[in-house]
Amino acid sequence: MSEPQLNIVYEGMLWPAHVHSEESVRYAREEFQVRDDDVFIVTYPKSGTTWMQEIVPLIFSNGDLTPVQTIPNWQRVPWLEQTSGKTLLENRPSPRFITTHLPYHLMPKSFYTSKAKIVYVVRNPKDALVSSFHYHNMATFLENPGTFEEFIHKFLEGKVMFGSWFDHIKSWLLVKDQDNILFLTYEEMLQDMRGVLVRLGEFLGKQLGDDAIETIANQSKFSNMKQNKMSNYSFVPKELMDQKKTNFLRKGIAGDWKTHFTTAQTEHFNSVYAQRMKGLNFTFYED
Ligand code: A3P
Repeated sequence: MSEPQLNIVYEGMLWPAHVHSEESVRYAREEFQVRDDDVFIVTYPKSGTTWMQEIVPLIFSNGDLTPVQTIPNWQRVPWLEQTSGKTLLENRPSPRFITTHLPYHLMPKSFYTSKAKIVYVVRNPKDALVSSFHYHNMATFLENPGTFEEFIHKFLEGKVMFGSWFDHIKSWLLVKDQDNILFLTYEEMLQDMRGVLVRLGEFLGKQLGDDAIETIANQSKFSNMKQNKMSNYSFVPKELMDQKKTNFLRKGIAGDWKTHFTTAQTEHFNSVYAQRMKGLNFTFYED
């Protein structure tokens, strides 16, 4: 019996076939009409997407918890390129919150002339890799990652969902200083959530009072999100995500890569990193 097709290949990238089709990706790129008041959360997978899906709606509700307590994250901030994207987003009233893993050059054609805002979250790629490795082990709709060593190679070669981390981050780094883009790191969110919330509020044109900041910072804590059924993917059947193997909200820390990478793997990763990121004035928080 032949293996089920777990990925589609489109624009030279792998997209999980479980929730993507050529048609859905083509729609996102060619037909989707971006509005000036749209807010996009953009990430490479496993970099803090779910976290930001908690935060952005809470900023717009001024800390009222109703949206995150009543609406699952995939409906609260739907994924543009997924097969459900068109239905969930096309007629939604403004302001729309939209999630995407698209690199800059594959954004909807109507995006480039719009004033839509982008909140981009980047994470230390070694930690994104580790998170993705565990996610591939628990999600049956993703390929078996192989050994950790094999997965490092796949990741560095971009033979993973949404392609190369380097291509993704570089595409957005080159435009990060545009007025409609706020570039944040997962690590600064861990270190100084209140500071991040002030910046986000200013960027999104929502002045947040101290009480709202306190409520949002508290609700978006890892331990609280882990308990939130609307955000922890516990509604997804075990046949698709086996959270007995690993929770979707797994550890939520910086530096977990150190418990996974050998010295040789770290050296190899760092040398590829140095080569691929040469000339870009961008260094990573390494703790
Ligand atoms: P780990 O597997 O390292 O724990 P994404 O949402 O982009 O798929 O990323 C998932 C990663 O973000 C997981 O990383 C998850 O635990 C982490 N994450 C989600 N919410 C978080 C939070 N509130 N605080 C810290 N990390 C969070």
